[in-house]
Amino acid sequence: MKHYPYQIDSLESYKEAYKQSLDNPAAFWGDIARNFSWMHSWKNVLDWNFEEPSVKWFDGAKLNITVNCLDRHLEEHASDIALIFDANDPEEASRHISYQELYDEVNRMALVMKARGIKKGDRVCIYMGMIPELAIAVLACARIGAIHSVIFGGFSARSVADRINDAQAKAVITCDGAYRGAKQIELKSIIDDALEQCLSVQSVFVVNRTNTPVSMIKDRDYWWDEEMLNIPLGSFCEPEPMNAEDPLFILYTSGSTGKPKGVVHSCGGYMVYATYSFVNVFQYQLGEVHFCTADIGWITGHSYIVYGPLCAGATSLMFEGIPTWPNASRFWEICEKHRVNILYTAPTAIRSLMGLGDEFVESFSLQSLRVLGSVGEPINEEAWQWFHDKVGKGRCPIVDTWWQTETGGIMISNIAGITPQKPAFATLPLPGIFPELVNENGNVIEGNEVSGNLVISHPWPATIRTTWGDHERCKQTYFSAYPGKYFTGDGALRDKDGNYRITGRVDDVLNVSGHRIGTAEVENAINMHQGVVESAVVGYPHDLKGQGIYAYVIYQGKHNESQDQLRSDILSTVIRIIGPIAKPDKIQFVQGLPKTRSGKIMRRILRKIAERDASNLGDTSTLLDPSVVDSIRQGAL
Ligand code: WTA
Repeated sequence: MKHYPYQIDSLESYKEAYKQSLDNPAAFWGDIARNFSWMHSWKNVLDWNFEEPSVKWFDGAKLNITVNCLDRHLEEHASDIALIFDANDPEEASRHISYQELYDEVNRMALVMKARGIKKGDRVCIYMGMIPELAIAVLACARIGAIHSVIFGGFSARSVADRINDAQAKAVITCDGAYRGAKQIELKSIIDDALEQCLSVQSVFVVNRTNTPVSMIKDRDYWWDEEMLNIPLGSFCEPEPMNAEDPLFILYTSGSTGKPKGVVHSCGGYMVYATYSFVNVFQYQLGEVHFCTADIGWITGHSYIVYGPLCAGATSLMFEGIPTWPNASRFWEICEKHRVNILYTAPTAIRSLMGLGDEFVESFSLQSLRVLGSVGEPINEEAWQWFHDKVGKGRCPIVDTWWQTETGGIMISNIAGITPQKPAFATLPLPGIFPELVNENGNVIEGNEVSGNLVISHPWPATIRTTWGDHERCKQTYFSAYPGKYFTGDGALRDKDGNYRITGRVDDVLNVSGHRIGTAEVENAINMHQGVVESAVVGYPHDLKGQGIYAYVIYQGKHNESQDQLRSDILSTVIRIIGPIAKPDKIQFVQGLPKTRSGKIMRRILRKIAERDASNLGDTSTLLDPSVVDSIRQGAL
């Protein structure tokens, strides 16, 4: 028997589901949603217009997502394992947390937060390493209706402060420190620096992970363990009844302009879509171990470590460390040790492991693996083949899942073992997802063997609802370029069979090792460095990272330091302002930048030079000073 009534189990059932979703999206999603636990049903399945935009799924319905992730499983599956934790240090014992145990801990932490005055609608920023308490913190927020905003542990104090301030967070949950490979990151001290600029935060909960000495501020900072001791085991926290359209979380992500924006997802639609896509794309079978290697600081971790798997009653594996430490066998050891069935990772990890040699993977039989998955950036055919042959031993389907922070869940992907796979193609949309390709004029490009900008023409349950505190920005960024459609920012092509291949961003967003970074953000950080007059940042193809960051910098400071020194100073500035993930790979000092007469930087030219494809730069006649191009070209790195 199928455990999930809405699980697609044949090519025919995929086609049938797709057709139903096309004929009547509301009826299709209404039927799926009825398999979840609601406190009160909805009035309408869907109300929408993409002009404002306004998207409402299951409006009027009441639910709490943690009831679906936890309470609902207790009757029959209390002792099933919800989370497996594999620590950074392979010698440290792994932890197995049952649904009952996770439920108990989430209830306690929810009561801890309530006791400190945190309530429905308050924002809570979470800045932690990949330890079970991170999942507990996320769920405890959802239990009481507080809106969580998880910030990846690699961001600097300044980036953290920007996010806390934008969200006006009332509380922060953090750790003393985090282990990551050979490194230790002092999270609490970064929070202390950040909070000097944040007046909204009233309480900070600190998990002791690394025994790092930290400064604890009276009446603001509380040890997680001590707080939990105040709440007896077995205490019950009433799940806050949430409207389906109430925000569940904010997740900051980079765009082509300005500071990162807070993508907002709702409680009801997001829950339905994260779970539906999880169960279907990976063809999850009850009892299997799902290992998603992402960090919960990104959307992939939200949807496919926490919410999707737990709503489905799955066993989700959390890994604290990195794939290359203490050596490049780490993933494979984890897969063997915990008999992992589904491994969901990023092309950048695959490429770096591939580069370190086959011997690390060849000695592992990896028999438990059934499905492999890829996410975050286009996967090149060589990496796909290696993943298929060496990791999947030629037996496991690979799902190439295209989606975004804004889409909440997987949008275009093959369905493991059911719909055909094609290397480097995300292939076909999931039921309920209606992609289109449009040209510059906004006209829909019909037919196959065509390429264009990728848009989605109809809402799906996990559509971005707004950008926190600035609805207009949401409208401008996603719903204005092609009125009536959601614009993804990606380019794509469609092959003769209707399969989609994502070709990459068509805006000024870089994808570096699967991390989204706006060129404007990096430029702003570089420009903070004393003596820097102006800078322009573009991406270029990078063997391991997918894209590397190439910065052109006009510097007019003192000239007594060497260029190398200056480069390393600029790098330190970027690390301080954003974090190590935004560090440029190349910095070229230039006298001027190619600008149009209206003062716009012609990035197309800079991109070509960075890509070492400067033979034909196209039309440069509109440049204010065409001679700068030659000098930039000569100095190219
Ligand atoms: C890119 C990550 C090609 C794409 C879930 C998108 C991909 C951006 C794929 C979103 C894929 C993601 N093939 N490109 N399978 N998956 N992308 O918000 O450019 O961190 O717009 O969400 O990653 O990145 P984000």
